[in-house]
Amino acid sequence: MGRGCAECTRNALALCEDLPAAPEILDVGCGTGAQTLVLASAAAGRITATDLIGPFLAQLEERAAEMGLAKRIQILVADMNDLPFPDGAST
Ligand SMILES: C[S@@+](CC[C@H](N)C(=O)[O-])C[C@H]1O[C@@H](n2cnc3c(N)ncnc32)[C@H](O)[C@@H]1O
Repeated sequence: MGRGCAECTRNALALCEDLPAAPEILDVGCGTGAQTLVLASAAAGRITATDLIGPFLAQLEERAAEMGLAKRIQILVADMNDLPFPDGAST
């Protein structure tokens, strides 16, 4: 089991208590979306996936479409130090 592996991601999700049935998830520094796609498969609801590197996000977009998950994943190029959401906002 390594950093960011699918099993680690599922285990981390299972540790989140009292989640709503369809949680809003923000994945910061999602890279090519390995973790994003596991989360989208394991949890209902919507995921906002952000990274600085556009080509990584393009790969995520392609894989999300292949897996039928594109409608549930919003993809944004954004710096994690300056996210374009107001304080306290759900995405
Ligand atoms: C170790 S990778 C994590 C990949 C992903 N979470 C996964 O499970 O596959 C770290 C990611 O953080 C991104 N990153 C680094 N600094 C960032 C910043 N300031 N804002 C947004 N993304 C950043 C990198 O582009 C890279 O894709």
